Amino acid sequence: MSSGPVAIISDLHSNLEALTAVFREIDQRGIQDVYCLGDIIGYGPDPGPVIEMVRQRCSLVLRGNHDEALFRGADDFNPIARLALETNREMIRPGFLRPAIRKVWWVFLRDLKVSEQRGEMLFVHGSPRDPIREYVMKGDVMFSPRKMEEIFELIPQFAFGGHTHQPGVFIEGVGHKSPEELGFRYEFSKEKGFINVGSVGQPRDNNPLSCFLVLHSDSVEWVRVAYDVAAVQDKIRRNKAIDDLCADRLALGR
Ligand SMILES: [Fe+2]
Repeated sequence: MSSGPVAIISDLHSNLEALTAVFREIDQRGIQDVYCLGDIIGYGPDPGPVIEMVRQRCSLVLRGNHDEALFRGADDFNPIARLALETNREMIRPGFLRPAIRKVWWVFLRDLKVSEQRGEMLFVHGSPRDPIREYVMKGDVMFSPRKMEEIFELIPQFAFGGHTHQPGVFIEGVGHKSPEELGFRYEFSKEKGFINVGSVGQPRDNNPLSCFLVLHSDSVEWVRVAYDVAAVQDKIRRNKAIDDLCADRLALGR
């Protein structure tokens, strides 16, 4: 890890316009180091260019449930997510007479690691208990206290995840705080924290702006970035193998 701030992105979901806008912001801030917590593909229309950008720019890349579904199937996905995943697979699947770069993308996704611990910090896509698939929701604080206890037991001091597409922080013994409640910055305290970095390519906190996190030495900061939502919607609607709902939701942030 470099000594400067680190940008952490997650849940890109084949949204090239959003990822491009996020990297523009990261570059403007002079941030060198970028980590990606998975779900590079699925839902959106541009899996190839999004994988390539992640491959070129990110120093740590973890596996999300959509990346994994490429190899183990999407049977547990809802029909809309499954259809988009199958469409994404066709767009990047290597084969005879297909572009050679696809083989590179395929192997890159196949070999992604599941989690990473660096000092006091743990990085996952889903949760420390189930790094790829488990959702940690705001409601778990009240309704699943045992689940939250088990999760905090596995966190050295801080953990970072995505998966729910809802940015915020779970603070041990305190509860959940949204970026808005914190003024978009969480100053580290002695309590353990599980920090959700939000989603670049399909935010679901009723805010359509793309979301990522900047990790500083003593705090984290959530950043929201505008991008050309209409351009992505247009690509999705022209692609008959991706349901229009995947376009509609981008404008709503749901
Ligand atoms: Fe996701």
